[in-house]
Amino acid sequence: MIKNICCIGAGYVGGPTMAVIAQKCPHIKVTVVDLNEARIKAWNNEDVSKLPIYEPGLDEVVKEARGRNLFFSTDVDKAIDEAEMIFISVNTPTKTYGVGKGMAADLKYIELCARQIARVAKTNKIVVEKSTLPVRTAQAVKDILDNTGNGVQFQILSNPEFLAEGTAIEDLFQPDRVLIGGDTTPEGQQAINALVEVYANWVDKDKILTTNVWSSELSKLTANAFLAQRVSSINALSELCEKTGADVNEVARAIGTDSRIGSKFLKSSVGFGGSCFQKDILNLVYIAKSYGLQEVADYWEQVIIMNDHQKRRFAKNIINTLYNTVSGKKIAFLGWAFKKDTNDTRESAAIYVADYLLAEQAKIAVYDPKVETHQIYSDLDYLESRSPEENKKGISIFANPYEACENSHAIAVLTEWDEFKFYDWQKIYDAMLKPAFVFDGRNILDREKLEKIGFKYQGIGK
Ligand code: NAD
Ligand code: UGA
Repeated sequence: MIKNICCIGAGYVGGPTMAVIAQKCPHIKVTVVDLNEARIKAWNNEDVSKLPIYEPGLDEVVKEARGRNLFFSTDVDKAIDEAEMIFISVNTPTKTYGVGKGMAADLKYIELCARQIARVAKTNKIVVEKSTLPVRTAQAVKDILDNTGNGVQFQILSNPEFLAEGTAIEDLFQPDRVLIGGDTTPEGQQAINALVEVYANWVDKDKILTTNVWSSELSKLTANAFLAQRVSSINALSELCEKTGADVNEVARAIGTDSRIGSKFLKSSVGFGGSCFQKDILNLVYIAKSYGLQEVADYWEQVIIMNDHQKRRFAKNIINTLYNTVSGKKIAFLGWAFKKDTNDTRESAAIYVADYLLAEQAKIAVYDPKVETHQIYSDLDYLESRSPEENKKGISIFANPYEACENSHAIAVLTEWDEFKFYDWQKIYDAMLKPAFVFDGRNILDREKLEKIGFKYQGIGK
């Protein structure tokens, strides 16, 4: 039975996943390590409202387990040495250089972890790929471990994570399934069983699926591709709805009641964001291309092309509606995170919409309940469309939504935060320039109510 787990990478996946394992398995010591000292310091903050990531319910889990059997540290070597099972949960971003630039997953952090494990390990270890990885990565990890290790035996498992940000704790408590891939050898099966027993502390065994390593690695990319495809499919239809008088919400409801289609993931929006959908689909496209499967690659790439179109279309519509110019006009952004209930902004649609509008010399005023000011500036600076000084001139950030909207020509809703629905919209209207426009990129506001006040309202796909 496993008694000591280490996880390399204390990010959006490593942190919550290990916190839940520790809470549900008090008999297992769980140590989460990271090179980023500031991040580890924040995980150790006495005040659990200041953890490095915002995730509903996470504070309670950390409060219960931290210091008991959950530890956060920068001493990676020590944690590797002591653990019987090591999760690798580091980032695997899209490559920004060399072969596969802009498409392939950058595996340098994975390789560094494998080399560090090989160097430090003195006893047999089970190494678990928790990060999302291209199919056949386990072979590379195995090669490194087997060839640079000092006679230590390693078993490599694939255990991709399916949690969604904003609902991570719920998803971890009650996963639809847990997927574990391993070698078909007796040693491989033994390693699989060891990990099954960890999850079985709170997950029904019939929800724990075991497969070979390659199926497990590929299933993770496939799951994200299917989910993102649904969003791009409904978004593609949203444009047709706008031309024909159909209402995308009604269409989504009508098709979602077909049990073969299902109702989830049919919310039309300004476009999907987040750290994984785009990255993982690009990776899938790259893998297909590298096997010479051009049609397969083109098929999946269309999901990304549609998503880029949706973001651009939203920005263009704002410009067209505001009499074809937004130069010098104040446009208030409600929301900057890529979805509600998270402070994560990676690949958020808001960044791209802001970039298009800044290119048209708009003045943007942002309010987001959880995203920090420096993050918004660094998201824009990262695009390198203009200098950081110009970004600072174009964007102002407010801690109060009413102030963000004051004297604005238009409001754009970029994130579906619940609190937006409960604002005093009459007060907002009174303080805006007229005509006052609302572009609801999430279809969350009450159109009838807003129009009654006097707003000119536009949702997506209606
Ligand atoms: P993240 O960037 O939030 O966290 C990764 C952490 O790993 C960082 O804190 C970084 O400092 C650390 N790190 C990198 N190299 C290291 C090394 N050699 N030693 C120690 N620490 C190191 O990333 P994330 O969002 O947690 O994603 C991690 C992986 O999980 C990715 O492969 C991602 O595709 C996958 N995933 C993410 C989600 C999600 O919702 N974010 C969900 C499922 C799967
Ligand atoms: C997604 C998957 O849902 C997780 O299962 C997976 O583990 C994770 O990616 C990952 O591998 O990183 P996440 O990106 O955190 O999770 O959040 P989602 O809820 O999937 O939302 C992604 C984006 O799609 C958001 O911008 C969201 O607003 C958008 N979306 C989602 C829509 O526009 N419409 C929908 O109907 C659903």
